[in-house]
Amino acid sequence: EQNVHEKINKQFEELIATLPSDKDHFEARPTGIFLASSLKSGTTWLKVIMFSTMNRSKFEFATHPLLTTGLHDCNPYLDTYIWDHDVEALPSPRLFASHSAYPLLPKSVRESVDCKVVYICRNPKDVFVSHYLFAMKLRPPMLPPISMEEAFDLFCRGVCEYGPYFEHVLGYWKASLESPGKILFLKYEEMRKEPVRYVKQLAEFLGEPFSAEEEKEGVIEEIVKLCSFEKLTSLEVNKTGKVAFVPEMLISNDNFFRKGQVGDSKNHLTPEMIERLDKITEEKLKGTGFAF
Ligand code: A3P
Repeated sequence: EQNVHEKINKQFEELIATLPSDKDHFEARPTGIFLASSLKSGTTWLKVIMFSTMNRSKFEFATHPLLTTGLHDCNPYLDTYIWDHDVEALPSPRLFASHSAYPLLPKSVRESVDCKVVYICRNPKDVFVSHYLFAMKLRPPMLPPISMEEAFDLFCRGVCEYGPYFEHVLGYWKASLESPGKILFLKYEEMRKEPVRYVKQLAEFLGEPFSAEEEKEGVIEEIVKLCSFEKLTSLEVNKTGKVAFVPEMLISNDNFFRKGQVGDSKNHLTPEMIERLDKITEEKLKGTGFAF
């Protein structure tokens, strides 16, 4: 295991050394669709919702590829996919996901007037707990464990993968206010409450609204059912399948599912932690017009 990590680190170092500092390697197409999120905000769920919504006329629900295909193949992370795939070979419309903060999205995506960005956010307490438990499962055994208290302190101080959480959310929030036709801002909690409503809104935003006939036939409900936590976790591919975002680092698909509940953080955080994070949240959001 140690060798694998050393090898990956070496690959990163060599790769970084070869990167120019001013050239963007990704060219967005006007038909491009991007899912953006910070970690553990419901990315996997929205990946499959977007894929099944955009491809609903191609597949039957009974034999849908999501029943047998890895979750991440349907909407790959541009952040890592671009390293070892020819993105130009993909047919339009290309569907990509990214955890990048808004200013770090490829310039051609930010500047395109036509391509669409869908952002999903989640309340910071659940994001922290979900991320901590996920990271602990994947943490290489050779590294010393990090306590929840220590990880929580880092999160509160903005030390997170892909950058400080609040800045990540607010970056996309502000961009969505400036360009509402280009950036759709969604909240995990609201989608959990009314998935049908938001899948409908998503399809309209992506320029593929459901027809009256599709609505009558219950296509939206089929998509919601196919992408539900219960359905996805019952599938063999998600119980035993694996994904490699980077070569030689396999992650079991079942790691992307835990409870899928709103508010589970109260079962893990102390009242003091909750008070601290609530206070930070209030301060960070003051004057922004945004609330979780
Ligand atoms: P919990 O750890 O709170 O259960 P991401 O996909 O961005 O990594 O987010 C992971 C979180 O989304 C996990 O939250 C996971 O259980 C939840 N999740 C995964 N699939 C889901 C689905 N189909 N519906 C709702 N939540 C889902």
